[in-house]
Amino acid sequence: MTLVIDNIGLLVTNSDEHGDGVLGVRRDVALVIHGETVQAIEPCGVAGDTRIDAAGRCVIPGFVDSHTHLVFAGDRGDEFVARMAGAPYQAGGILTTVAATRGASTAELQRGVAARRAEARRNGITSIEIKSGYGLTVDDEHRLLEVAAGETADTTLLAAHVVPPEFAGRADDYVELICGEMLDAVAGTCRWVDAFCEQGAFDADQCRAVLTAAAARGLGTRLHANQLGHGPGVQLAVELGCASADHCTYLSDADIEALAASPNRTVATFLPATDFSTRQPYPDARRVIDAGATVALATNCNPGSSYTSSMAFCIALAVRDMRMTIEEAMRAATVGGAAALQRPELGRLVPGSPADAAVLDAPSYTHLVYRPGMQLVALTVERGVIA
Ligand code: NIG
Repeated sequence: MTLVIDNIGLLVTNSDEHGDGVLGVRRDVALVIHGETVQAIEPCGVAGDTRIDAAGRCVIPGFVDSHTHLVFAGDRGDEFVARMAGAPYQAGGILTTVAATRGASTAELQRGVAARRAEARRNGITSIEIKSGYGLTVDDEHRLLEVAAGETADTTLLAAHVVPPEFAGRADDYVELICGEMLDAVAGTCRWVDAFCEQGAFDADQCRAVLTAAAARGLGTRLHANQLGHGPGVQLAVELGCASADHCTYLSDADIEALAASPNRTVATFLPATDFSTRQPYPDARRVIDAGATVALATNCNPGSSYTSSMAFCIALAVRDMRMTIEEAMRAATVGGAAALQRPELGRLVPGSPADAAVLDAPSYTHLVYRPGMQLVALTVERGVIA
């Protein structure tokens, strides 16, 4: 079956071999999709089994959201309201969601994650990473990963999210549980392992232990780093060869140098909707990009620090407050996310790519920033299927 998106006014390919400028743009073309794959970029009017008329609008690669916590129960709206009245964000709020999630049935969690995944898709997100982290027992983390695996192949164990109440004052014992029994139980259900390196969560040695044990089992690693203050996270992520150091809100010169020189090309993944929701300062992405590091943007959709699936909102914040150009932000939300997930096939619209695209209700991708807060994703195509 061939699907044609016809009459595209502006197509972002993200490939300078297939179009102009840093986004590889083409004008007045049709995108031909065969099955799950992009087959060709043709002049308008080409035939196909199914036809979408883009009517001169802009088509972009689907967003690659490399950092989310979609599996949870409960609501933390009150915590957000208190923050807007001046209360600080604290890692301990995670335990509120842990209690609600432990008490939820698997069917309830599945319904919640499916609804949030659908919401993300409506916002143009066609590839997504989903973490556990609100179970914190061997059985609950396993259960959360199985629920996440129903929606994505990029599942991440985040047992080292916060110390659970039954281990209060015994963080090292909990780390030992993760490194042994828990990883043994869940290794077949996750592609990645993550840890929260922050005061109030886990220190550098504890995170190193978890990620080293994960790597020894052949799992990929990523790290929550420098979210709430300066700390060892970013440099630890580089030292361990993590795929990604996420948040990067507080960066020293040495952190930026380490990212730029990282032998494994550890991606600096910015989560600006989190800085919005927690009233943290925005990171200076300009310095990181100018130093030569690879950057990504992700939503960090979760009930505590960033309850949004709008990548457009993240792009707008990155341009408005992080000194990124619109083109840099677009790339960070597509090929940047693909780099953070080590899936280089994602984030482009060229022959042979997975057919993941968003038709915008706008003549240009620039409207994602120019018209903030508007639902500009008219239609999402995921692996060749109109979603
Ligand atoms: O990435 N920082 C740790 N984890 C999430 C927050 C989770 C929560 O507050 O529930 C984050 O911001």
